[in-house]
Amino acid sequence: MNDTMKPLNIVILAAGKGTRMYSDKPKVLHHLAGRPLLQHVLDCATQLQPRQVCVVYGHGGEAVPQAMSQYSAQFVLQEPQLGTGHAVQQAMPHLDDGSHTLVLYGDVPLMQHATLHQMQHAAGNGLVLLTVNLENPVGYGRIVRDAEGDVQRIVEEKDATPEEREISEVNTGILLAPTRELRAWLAKLQNNNAQGEYYLTDIVAMAVEQGLAVHTAQPAHAWEVEGINSKTQLAKLERTWQQVQAAHLLAQGVTLADPARIDIRGSLACGRDVEIDVGCIFEGDVNLGDNVRVGAYSVIRNATIAAGTRIAPYSHIDSSQVGANCHIGPFSRLRPGSKLADEVHIGNFVEVKNSEIAAGSKANHLSYIGDSTVGSKVNIGAGTITANYDGANKHRTVIGDNASTGANSVLIAPVTVGQGATLGAATVLRKDAPENQLTITAGRQQTVPGWKRPEKKK
Ligand code: UD1
Ligand code: MG
Repeated sequence: MNDTMKPLNIVILAAGKGTRMYSDKPKVLHHLAGRPLLQHVLDCATQLQPRQVCVVYGHGGEAVPQAMSQYSAQFVLQEPQLGTGHAVQQAMPHLDDGSHTLVLYGDVPLMQHATLHQMQHAAGNGLVLLTVNLENPVGYGRIVRDAEGDVQRIVEEKDATPEEREISEVNTGILLAPTRELRAWLAKLQNNNAQGEYYLTDIVAMAVEQGLAVHTAQPAHAWEVEGINSKTQLAKLERTWQQVQAAHLLAQGVTLADPARIDIRGSLACGRDVEIDVGCIFEGDVNLGDNVRVGAYSVIRNATIAAGTRIAPYSHIDSSQVGANCHIGPFSRLRPGSKLADEVHIGNFVEVKNSEIAAGSKANHLSYIGDSTVGSKVNIGAGTITANYDGANKHRTVIGDNASTGANSVLIAPVTVGQGATLGAATVLRKDAPENQLTITAGRQQTVPGWKRPEKKK
């Protein structure tokens, strides 16, 4: 941390009802890019290494603190909600006077750490307002400056004169203030305004009166300060964020069949010459190695895919690791705990769960491989099923290197197929199959002499 900067308290305002969401869920718990709005803000806040984070919540009972219990933040109930100034007042007992206090909004999810950092640098001993210039400033508080261009106060839309409404510089609501002074100003707030609320914005005129510097800063991107009040705004900001991420990937050299048709709900790291077809969804932390290709409409969550692997369309990969030069799909499903070595082929309608498959093995058609350890160069015949569940417990199947299972085999775990073993078609394997031998359990084929098909009675 820069030593000219004071330590930081962060207050996140999240008590608003969100009436226009038409939802029983508190507004800040609605998701953008796969995470609650408030979680985006908390993650950004955490990056600033604050001394204290205080979330002011209001609606939905304990839903907000419960949903965010992984953060070491203070949760303070604001009831009733008497305005933004009143909201910050609720947090004051938790803040220390030696720090600056940064006020963020829980429904403004895409605030970036760099912009806040810039505000910290601008602060000195004064106040910093994050402002933007809008062609259509309707609804926002306006930044009123004097002839020298110094900020005098903020006037809310509903309290503004027609001349003041012409001002295009608006308050984003995000501000940074010295905590000791903030405490004193908040204690003096009045609600004699058009909305009968305690306005946080009234502290600006108090700072000016006291001779404190009021600085302004601007966000690097307009989308950083966009707030969510409705599902329409949520959907719009979601698209904006997806475009931002797609542009980032393109700039790094990733080929996207259509940057408007990719969804990243988390983080996606890509090597060189990665190609991603349309309609893919990436969730959690996904890592794609060099030359990986992802086919259309695949869903990949918390997975690592090593270099050169091809994923054909409609594949679903969750909490798994895939080695280099594998062929996955189309229509493959890798469930949590699947670990594939290099050059493994998993084909259509094959489901793998909590299993390790060593290099060069193939399961190309219609199989279930669960709780299994599969050696290298194994051929899993079409329709092979590991029966891993006895109705009460799960058991493991072990298949040795170079083994081959016949089509439609059922391996009843716990069971081992020895190295180089071959299972005949439709084997129901209840005991271990010895190495390098053919094991057959299906009945002998017979032809019944003299049998005739029944004929329809007249
Ligand atoms: C506020 C600002 C306005 C600014 C605008 C930017 C004030 C008085 N006005 O207006 O200058 O241009 O934001 O969007 O600050 N909240 C609480 N408790 C409350 C009231 C609000 O937690 O009692 C929270 C809301 O959930 C929201 C934020 O504070 O996250 C802002 O509240 P909102 O009602 O949207 O403020 P505006 O009237 O739009
Ligand atoms: Mg309001």
